Amino acid sequence: MERESDYSFDGITQLTEKEFRLISDLIYSKFGINLTEKKKALIRGRLHKLIRNEGYKSFEEYYNAVVNDKTGKNLLMMVDRLSTNHSFFFRESEHFDYLSNTILPEMARRLERENSPDLKIWSAGCAAGEEPYTLGMILLDHFDLQFFRSKPAILATDISITSLAQALEGEYPEERIKPVSDVYRLKYLEKAGPGRYRVKDTLKKLILFKRLNLMSETFPFKGKFHLIFCRNVMIYFDNETKQRLITKFHNYMYDNGYLFIGHSETLGRGTNLFRYIQPALYQKV
Ligand SMILES: C[S@@+](CC[C@H](N)C(=O)[O-])C[C@H]1O[C@@H](n2cnc3c(N)ncnc32)[C@H](O)[C@@H]1O
Repeated sequence: MERESDYSFDGITQLTEKEFRLISDLIYSKFGINLTEKKKALIRGRLHKLIRNEGYKSFEEYYNAVVNDKTGKNLLMMVDRLSTNHSFFFRESEHFDYLSNTILPEMARRLERENSPDLKIWSAGCAAGEEPYTLGMILLDHFDLQFFRSKPAILATDISITSLAQALEGEYPEERIKPVSDVYRLKYLEKAGPGRYRVKDTLKKLILFKRLNLMSETFPFKGKFHLIFCRNVMIYFDNETKQRLITKFHNYMYDNGYLFIGHSETLGRGTNLFRYIQPALYQKV
């Protein structure tokens, strides 16, 4: 029989059914991330080292420390380990083609008509910065820097502090910048040592990185956005959480603004609020 705080023969702390429920319920209620039974091995794998290093005897002891920590730091560390932060430059490149060929010219006309210097874009769930930096390269290619009188044009948010720290640093191994074309590489990246590249300041200045939980009831924004990218984030949410978030995106978006989601995702009921443009791209109605 499985005991509450057992150690397996390989020295890895066991995760009991009760502990799995406690942790998955906590992560769901705070961050909307739905860790199903299938993710049990993932939870155990991603947390066991932390548990051993910090000297906890069991997952339950660790869980209690997290919920009793008034600073909330332990909870952030927990979600940091459990969230999937995989991303890459120019991911789902059809989006960026449509952005440069159709949306940005349309936005430029719109902003001129409205006499507004403010193109506002939100990368919601920006991981280690690959998505907002890709967007920034395309923006700078389309408009010159002077266009962005009220900088930064891109707000990039995530819940993961480790990912945000990497994003702010803006340094990547050569392997990670492979999808960036030579032209963009030359314009927007610089060498940061052997096999490493750094995002140039002109590009960095366009982006504001902030920690933000998409589950928060309200978001601390003064204005609205023309474009919202929330790609490959809602796949971790259940339908109810996803619909609540889609409604919030609608509220924080200018009329006729665009919502980009991941290519393996759908809006479901939220499509009443947006009209379909092309796969994984919707416009506010
Ligand atoms: C798989 S990455 C997607 C990154 C990028 N958008 C892309 O498509 O490549 C998902 C990101 O969503 C973030 N995330 C998950 N739940 C979140 C929440 N409740 N609030 C804010 N960010 C969240 C994760 O930390 C992770 O960095």
